Amino acid sequence: MADLNSLEAKFQEKIDNEIKIEPKDWMPEKYRQTLIRQISQHAHSEVVGMLPEGNWITRAPSLRRKVALLAKIQDEAGHGLYLYSAAETLGVERDDLIEQLHTGKAKYSSIFNYPTLTWADIGAVGWLVDGAAIMNQVMLTRTSYGPYSRAMVRICKEESFHQRQGYEILLTLSRGSEDQKRMLQDAVNRFWWPSLMMFGPSDKDSVHTAQAMKWKIKRKTNDELRQQFVDVCVDQARILGVTLPDPNLKWNEERGHYDFSEIDWDEFWNVVKGNGPCNKQRMDARIKAHEEGAWVREAAMAYAEKQAKRRKEETTQVA
Ligand code: 3HC
Repeated sequence: MADLNSLEAKFQEKIDNEIKIEPKDWMPEKYRQTLIRQISQHAHSEVVGMLPEGNWITRAPSLRRKVALLAKIQDEAGHGLYLYSAAETLGVERDDLIEQLHTGKAKYSSIFNYPTLTWADIGAVGWLVDGAAIMNQVMLTRTSYGPYSRAMVRICKEESFHQRQGYEILLTLSRGSEDQKRMLQDAVNRFWWPSLMMFGPSDKDSVHTAQAMKWKIKRKTNDELRQQFVDVCVDQARILGVTLPDPNLKWNEERGHYDFSEIDWDEFWNVVKGNGPCNKQRMDARIKAHEEGAWVREAAMAYAEKQAKRRKEETTQVA
C-alpha cells in the first residue's frame, strides 16, 4: 500500500509541477480510465458531428460555400482520427471504442442530436458549436496528458477556420433579404441553448470536474467555460443583428460577466440519454457507414499484411 501511496504522491507532484504525463509513465488507473472516457467521447463527437453538416454539402448555395463545408467536414474526420489515436496510447483498441459508441455505451456531444434544417443552421453550427468547441479545446491544449494536449494544439488551428467560415455565412445572411434575416434568427433560436449545453452539466452536478481539475485534465470548469462563451457571443450576436433567445441575458457590472437564464437540464439529460430529436438517426447513419466501410478497412489491412510479409522476406534474403 505504501508503494501505491508514494506512486500517487509522485504522480500528483508531476501534475502540480506542470510536467506532462506521457503514455509510458505510471498513472493512477482512474486517471487512465477518465482520459479514455473523455478522449474517446471527444473523438466520437468529432465523427458524429460530421453528419449534421454533411446534410448540406449537396445544397450549399455556392461552390465556395460547398468547398469550405467539405474542407471543414474532412477536418472533423481528421480530428476524430487524432483523438482515437490519442486514446489508443492509453492501451485501448479503436474497434472497442467504436463498438462502445455503436452500442450506446459511450456518449458523444449532445449538440449533434439536433437537426440542421436550413443553410443558416450551417452558419450557426460554425459560429456557436465550433465556437463552443474552441473555447473548450483551447483550454484542453494545456491538459496534463501529453498526447491529448498535443492533439488539441493541431485541432485548434483548424477549429478557428471552422468558426470563422460559419460566422461569415451568418454575416452574409444578416446583410441579405428579410427572409434571410428570419432564417438567421431562427437558426440562432434553435442552436443557442444546445450550444451552451455542450459545456456539460453545471459544476455542482458534474461528477468528474473536481477530480479532473485536480489532475489538470481540465483547467477550467464547465461553468467557467460556459460563462466565457456567453460573454464572447453577445457582442458577436450584436454585429449579426440577431437577438439571443434569453430574456434574462444582461451585463452584470458587479460580476463582470453576462447573467443568463438557467439551462433546461431536463432537455439536456433527455438528449444525453438518447431521446434527442436525431439520436437514433445519427447512430443508424454511423453504424451503416461503419458497416459499408468494412471492405475499405479489410483492403487496407490486407495490403498492410502483404507489405509486412514482403519486407520480412526481403530482410531474410539480405541476412
Ligand atoms: N453531451 C453528452 N454528454 C455529456 C455532455 C454533452 N454535452 N456534457 C457532459 N456529458 C456527460 C459526460 O460525458 C459525463 O458522462 P460519462 O461519465 O458517462 O462520460 C456526464 O455527462 C457528467 O458530465 P461531467 O461534466 O461530469 O463530465 P466531464 O468532466 O467529462 O465534462 C465535457 C464534460 C466538458 C464535455 C468534457 O468531457 C470535455 O471537455 N470533453 C472534451 C471536449 C468534447 O468532447 N467536446 C464535445 C464537442 S467536440 C466538437 O464539437 C467538435 C467540433 O469540431 C465540432
